[in-house]
Amino acid sequence: MSRHKNTDKQLDESQQGNTLVLEGDQQNSRKLYIESYGCQMNFSDSEIVASILAKEGFNTTQELAEADLVLVNTCSIREKAELTVRKRLEKFNAIKKVNPHMKVGVLGCMAERLKSKFLEEEKIVDMVVGPDAYKDLPNLVQEIDEGRNAVNVILSKDETYGDVAPVRLNSNGVTAFVSITRGCDNMCTFCVVPFTRGRERSRDPQSILEEVNDLWERGYKEITLLGQNVDSYLWYGGGLKKDFEKASDMQKATSVNFAKLLDLCAQAQPKMRIRFSTSNPQDMTLDVIESMAKHKNICNYIHLPVQSGSDRILKAMNRLHTRAEYFELIDNIKRIIPDCAISQDMITGFPTETEEDHKDTLTLMEYVKYDFGFMFAYSERPGTMAARKLDDNVPPDVKKRRLTEIIDLQQKHSLYRTQQHLGEVEEVLIEGSSKKSDAHWMGRNSQNTVVVFPKENYAIGDFVMVKITDCTSATLLGEATGFSDIN
Ligand code: SAH
Ligand code: F3S
Repeated sequence: MSRHKNTDKQLDESQQGNTLVLEGDQQNSRKLYIESYGCQMNFSDSEIVASILAKEGFNTTQELAEADLVLVNTCSIREKAELTVRKRLEKFNAIKKVNPHMKVGVLGCMAERLKSKFLEEEKIVDMVVGPDAYKDLPNLVQEIDEGRNAVNVILSKDETYGDVAPVRLNSNGVTAFVSITRGCDNMCTFCVVPFTRGRERSRDPQSILEEVNDLWERGYKEITLLGQNVDSYLWYGGGLKKDFEKASDMQKATSVNFAKLLDLCAQAQPKMRIRFSTSNPQDMTLDVIESMAKHKNICNYIHLPVQSGSDRILKAMNRLHTRAEYFELIDNIKRIIPDCAISQDMITGFPTETEEDHKDTLTLMEYVKYDFGFMFAYSERPGTMAARKLDDNVPPDVKKRRLTEIIDLQQKHSLYRTQQHLGEVEEVLIEGSSKKSDAHWMGRNSQNTVVVFPKENYAIGDFVMVKITDCTSATLLGEATGFSDIN
């Protein structure tokens, strides 16, 4: 997910192209332009790709026209995300007419889904590389240099890129992503991710801690541990999650689960803020919530997608929990961490969804009153269980109307939640200037809500105490009262 609050109505994260700039090793002579779409994992992967290609003599550029190699890291999660990439390829085509030596590569989920078909469907594309094949880029680039097309979409059981130091691209120097798992074994019936990103595997905690420590040394103040399903993290010396049962007693005894990983990260850098995304309710255990409560530096915020409030639809989606179990989890979170913010992902118009099911979603939202959310109309994805077994039978106008209803309700709840912060003095980490005013800083509180306040003499990367005086449904406004003790 993009970390910015948005909805289908506003700006779908998959439409948000983002150019990445690498501060260059000046000896590098070739120019790489890399654009990422979709989830945070894709943005994080682009940093791995830039690192691998920097060693091959590539400097990144923001100027598409001067690029020798153009890479687009793609998203397949909804049809609209794929259409956005196709449109972008048309633009690259126009540029290639002026700059014929420019090569174009497609990375990420669309590459994995379409494989060599991409080369036939889009003549502009020279190279197709799946999410587990980035280490092969040096060979693949050589292939296209020699005038051949190149494809590697082999999925891996153990690749985690734990040994590649990502090059931080377009960074604010304060917040960074650290990837901890790859792939997903959950097989939600609507979701293409298990097909495009393969089996779930966890990264060696030692390499995670090294990355966290290195980020701290370099001045970073906040990390987000990333995975499709972070609560399912499990390290027992390597290997797939599903093979854990076969591990030795020794491996089992020294294994590290997500709660333990949180402890390790929080203890390694007690002044560094720690976030994580995404949690699947069926895999989130009490020990994770307890670990959050135990460490002051783990932020009080959980992105906890539910997708639907109807038991019948949850079952059809292969989400392995009920509405009642979800409520129990929410109650436990609020009991252990009363000021914990919670956000959702929701899908409207899943096949067979009735008005009754939709109402269940609205009442579930009423119960939780999420701080914010990401809401989508169901988009059938080829190859998924839902596409194979179920008719996409909710008419587009019904999907849209239901989507509008849940977005409006979320808006109301978001405002209710931001209003609870009025009058409080909260710790904010400054990330940069406010988009709307150069005289104001923008940062986030522990709950991940954006806070805007006058700059005074504070600087990017400072932890500041801010008195909240006003709010919209998405932003808190206030005034700094001094530095936080954490500095
Ligand atoms: N575990 C993942 C979820 C990835 S997909 C994570 O790290 O965020 C992000 C969200 O996209 C899902 O939670 C779901 O709400 C939405 N989504 C996935 N497949 C979809 C589909 N076929 N149609 C509409 N929305 C979908
Ligand atoms: Fe997709 Fe479900 Fe995994 S939404 S990423 S299959 S947890």
